[in-house]
Amino acid sequence: MSFAMLTLLTLTRKIITKFTKLTPFQNIYEEINVLKEQNKFLLFEVSKLNELLRGQTWKNNRIDDQSIEQTHDSFEFQWSDINTGYKLPSDTEFMSAIQENICLITDSNKEWFKGKKILDLGCGTGRFTYGFLTLGARVTACDQSKSALQQAQLLCHQFADQVTFKQIDILTWNEEDYFEMVFCFGVVHHTGNTYQAIENAAKKVKEGGKLFLMVYGFPESPTDFIEVNTYESLRQKLRNFSIEERKYFLEKKFGIELAHGYFDAVSPKINDLLTFPEIEELLKSFGFASIKRTLPSRNYRIIAEKIVVN
Ligand SMILES: C[S@@+](CC[C@H](N)C(=O)[O-])C[C@H]1O[C@@H](n2cnc3c(N)ncnc32)[C@H](O)[C@@H]1O
Repeated sequence: MSFAMLTLLTLTRKIITKFTKLTPFQNIYEEINVLKEQNKFLLFEVSKLNELLRGQTWKNNRIDDQSIEQTHDSFEFQWSDINTGYKLPSDTEFMSAIQENICLITDSNKEWFKGKKILDLGCGTGRFTYGFLTLGARVTACDQSKSALQQAQLLCHQFADQVTFKQIDILTWNEEDYFEMVFCFGVVHHTGNTYQAIENAAKKVKEGGKLFLMVYGFPESPTDFIEVNTYESLRQKLRNFSIEERKYFLEKKFGIELAHGYFDAVSPKINDLLTFPEIEELLKSFGFASIKRTLPSRNYRIIAEKIVVN
């Protein structure tokens, strides 16, 4: 771009900004970079939609059966073969602050948890289950992954009388049981039916109780776009790798400490991205109020209270 063109562009932007009162970008290069990243993201989204449509019309079957199976297998492998690293139970720094972390993301104080009945839905290897137990809660910890549950059980062995472990599928688990808090961190967007998973989690909350969800958010800021595009690029690169090859690649590229996090983010096929207003509307329709985000991060940390009807 020539100097004259650049000057003209900058001038035009200044005039537009003055009359429309829109916030300008710091400079034209920043604006171009943001547009490039947004464009890249839209292309990924369009290609995924096309793929979804193709899959659905191909045999007139439910498209997600194969993706659900892949996602399930990916978690099973992740928990049996890449189960140490950053922010996992092996991370002593993370675990030493687990109570404070729980209080922060659920907007509750430590005393609230004592004696409370909590459901850790999609508990993985039990880092939060452990935290709830140390806070004095009684916990039911559930996951579809056998390997995850075995490790969670080991992690929490000293609290055996306070905790029950169950292997369940959140989409079909319909046992009648109610909890003062249902905690569901990073699960519903991997199930293949996010709304159903949220409804099933919501049903298990007692009237007056709390629902906590961590849900992948739809990108908004420039850094969000860069982050999701990084993940999508890796997904595309690794999609025809075997699961072991994926692990090897990520360990080599990011190191053992971060490999789990990257594997978790890029290996499962199902990674739904939702907007906050969409989740808010859904939770309202399930009888929740005081719905709020507890941290200003792209992946929403949401706490909501179930309205008392009677
Ligand atoms: C990203 S991990 C989060 C684990 C845990 N909540 C944590 O934060 O450490 C997602 C978990 O959801 C579980 N999961 C995915 N789909 C599920 C389903 N349909 N039913 C039960 N668990 C499911 C996976 O097995 C996995 O352990």
